[in-house]
Amino acid sequence: MSINESNFHFYPADSAEVLPEPPSGATPADSANSNSKTYNQSDFWRSPETNRPANSTRTDLPEELETIRLHWERRGRKYGLSPSASWVDETMLRHEGVILSKYLKDGDRVLDAGCANGYTTVQLARHKPVRITGIDYAPSMIDYANLNLGRAGRLAGSVSFRVGNFLSLDFPDNSFDKVITKRCLINLGSAEHQKTALLEAWRVLKPGGLFLVSEVTDQTAENLNRLRQRLGLETMVPLWHNCYLNEPDFLSFAKNYFDLKQVRRFSSTYYVLTWAIYPFFVRNGQRNYRNLIHRLGAHLPQIGDWGLQKLFVLQKPAE
Ligand SMILES: C[S@@+](CC[C@H](N)C(=O)[O-])C[C@H]1O[C@@H](n2cnc3c(N)ncnc32)[C@H](O)[C@@H]1O
Repeated sequence: MSINESNFHFYPADSAEVLPEPPSGATPADSANSNSKTYNQSDFWRSPETNRPANSTRTDLPEELETIRLHWERRGRKYGLSPSASWVDETMLRHEGVILSKYLKDGDRVLDAGCANGYTTVQLARHKPVRITGIDYAPSMIDYANLNLGRAGRLAGSVSFRVGNFLSLDFPDNSFDKVITKRCLINLGSAEHQKTALLEAWRVLKPGGLFLVSEVTDQTAENLNRLRQRLGLETMVPLWHNCYLNEPDFLSFAKNYFDLKQVRRFSSTYYVLTWAIYPFFVRNGQRNYRNLIHRLGAHLPQIGDWGLQKLFVLQKPAE
């Protein structure tokens, strides 16, 4: 898959967003493990429930977030079953799933908050006997997540999906052993909403449960940009709908409710290779997220703090 470089995380500050075209071939969820499945091109373009209006949702979302929700709703319809529905970097998507799976135990009840079309949710249940629920506030994402699940074949665990809002979760207190957020917090528009989501995660977690936060912070974005600037590369700015975590503020708030067990810089070497070195080899602005440099970058030891994706492992104290 070749995608224009500017269609990743960042754009020059004054440019409008242009979504990359969906891949020309069919791309199953967790393509590494499901080569035998066939997909119609139309799966990428049409929502399975074509009569569902774009604004249909059971969530009570703050008004200022509706434009972001509509962005994801449209993106869900456009990309269908493709992993690119949530992110074009398939290599890192898969790698993140592998990292997260190491924190899940057999029998865990897991919430994947902001699951998009269920790519990672299904990946986790494929490898771990967990009971995992994916929620997303974009109905198109949930429609395709269910379609992905229907086509996933044999799973080690069980999966269900439903429309829901991370800011007011429709689950009782103490329901889950693990709550996962992967680039969902950065779509909440403000630090205030990010804190509300953190409190919701705390509420639905059982005592001793883990909140697995794989997100982008201002600080790592600055680190990567400094490195790129030293190499003469353009400064990258967040997409219009992203509000990165301010790491010190987020962590000092989180520490009122959780114990910080680990900060895992699992993508640092990866970003150095793919966003500081690879740009010198990209032809016509077209980058290939599945090529050797991406795959190698994900598997090498991760050194430094230049990776945009970072995992914070937060534990709700046992009672
Ligand atoms: C960048 S995508 C990440 C998807 C998935 N976690 C992954 O890593 O592939 C962000 C997802 O969060 C969802 N989202 C954003 N805000 C949400 C909210 N308040 N409640 C539920 N889902 C939300 C969007 O619809 C989108 O599918």
